[in-house]
This record gives sequence, structure tokens and C-alpha cells, in this order.
Amino acid sequence: MHDGLGQHPAPTHVVAHVSDTHLLAGGALLGGAIDTAEHLRSVLERLELAAPTADALVVSGDCTDLGEPEAYALLRELVEPVAARMGARVVYAAGNHDERGPMWRALHDIDEAAPYDHVHDVGGLRIVSLDSSLPGFHHGGFDDGQAQWLADVLAEPAQHGTLLVMHHPPLPYRARIMQVLEFQDERRLAEVLAGSDVRAILSGHLHVNGSGTFAGIPVILANATSYADDLAAGPTAFQGIDAAQSANLLEVYPHTVAHSVVPGRAHPSLSPLPADLHARLAALDAAGRVERFSRKR
Ligand SMILES: [Fe+2]
Ligand SMILES: [Fe+2]
Repeated sequence: MHDGLGQHPAPTHVVAHVSDTHLLAGGALLGGAIDTAEHLRSVLERLELAAPTADALVVSGDCTDLGEPEAYALLRELVEPVAARMGARVVYAAGNHDERGPMWRALHDIDEAAPYDHVHDVGGLRIVSLDSSLPGFHHGGFDDGQAQWLADVLAEPAQHGTLLVMHHPPLPYRARIMQVLEFQDERRLAEVLAGSDVRAILSGHLHVNGSGTFAGIPVILANATSYADDLAAGPTAFQGIDAAQSANLLEVYPHTVAHSVVPGRAHPSLSPLPADLHARLAALDAAGRVERFSRKR
């Protein structure tokens, strides 16, 4: 059902995006201080309020901090009931803090050491999860086999195009020390994506909200649900703070993709607009809505 009041049709798809959940076994505190399980619970609760019928729920890597099997079990316990209520497909991606073996075992119940690569068809929107982690390292890349696999996947366009989920954003990194941990196969990725139907790249890794373009494709970073980088610590630092946790919403339209941020915690609110305002505006025609709600008094 479309209950919009403006000039655009409803989005064809809504994608909820969280990243860098950094869970530990048993919900242990990260660094002895940060309750990453509770933070994820809170972010998901607010995300569900923001997008109760999202089509997909993406977790773009660093799902766990140490790759512990129990941490993946906790991830599923927190994420999957929310996704089920939304009716959303869950799309996991691997990050540099994940471990492939335990991730395959926990999420698919198989013994596997291959890159954690997947393709999902979500009502005609293709969501590709590309494993940009490199075993034993924190920087990112992908191998020849993955490049061929991705090229094969993208050979035929999807009805509503493709979203590519990869933990390491293919962008220049502001935080100087994180530049050591960048995605190091940009040229090859650009070759694979040239002429493809990829409409946006969803990433995390930097624990900031951000965006850029890669080969003309929007790259959208979700901040972490665990801890954020305090940019005010300066350009040579990477300073984790127990604040600014959030999730992203991506609304996919036939002609564009729009992105917004959902604050991960409740904050003091202004007094709300009248609860029936939407219904009253919906009962008016376009000119009446402008008169009622746009004209300055
Ligand atoms: Fe992370
Ligand atoms: Fe990361």
C-alpha cells in the first residue's frame, strides 16, 4: 500500500542495513566496556519501528569481533526474529573481524573455507554479498575466483537491478590509519562492475556514516551498531566511542536509490505533530496539502 503524499511512487524495495555488530560470545562486553549485544538489540528495535515491512535486512560484516561460534549464534538470535517480523530476507556479509569457517558453520551448518559470497533475489532486486575479507588480515580484497563469480552473477541484469554488499568500502578512507586496512582491489572491482546493473554498494568497516561513489556507483556506509569512530579525535586517530550507533535505510525506487539514517538510541523529543496529521493530509488533494502544511503562517 502506498500512503505517500508527494510526487513519487512508493519505493519498490526497502532495505534495512546494519553493520559492524562486533558481537562476542555470551554477549561479553567489547573492550570490557561496550555492550555490543544490547546496542544491536536497541538498534534493531528502532529499525523495526522505522521500517516494519523492510524487504531485506543486511548485516555488512564484522558481525562478530573474534569469529567465535557462540557470537554468530547470538547474532542469529538477535537479528532473525526481527527480520521474520518484518518479512525481510537476511543478508549477511563477512568482515575482517569475521572468520569464514565458523561463519559458514553457524549460518549454514556446513564446513566450508571458501569466501562467504552469496546472491539473493528479493522480489526482483538482486542483493549480492561479496566477501571482501582476506583470511589472516584486516585489509580487504577479493580473489580471481570471486571476480569471475561476480562477473557471472552480474552477466544478466536483474529486474530491479543489484545492490552489492561488501564490508570494506571501495573508497578513499579519511582515517589515516584505516588506510592500511582499505580495499586493495579497486581496479579489478571496477572492471567487473563496468556496465553492470549495480545501483549501490553497501559497506561498513569505518564505523562512520558516509558516502561516496565508486566507478559512478553510490557507496553508502552504515555506521556501526557497536561503537563509532570519533572523527573529532583527529585525522591520524581511530577513536572508538560508545555513541552514535545507528542503522541505515535504503529506499529503492525505479529511478533512484535514497538513503537515510535511523538513530540507534532514543533521545529527548520535541512535542510531536498531531497524530492524525497524516490521515488529514491524505484526505486532501495536492493543492490542499500545500495549503494546510506547506504555507507559512
Ligand atoms: Fe568493524
Ligand atoms: Fe572492519
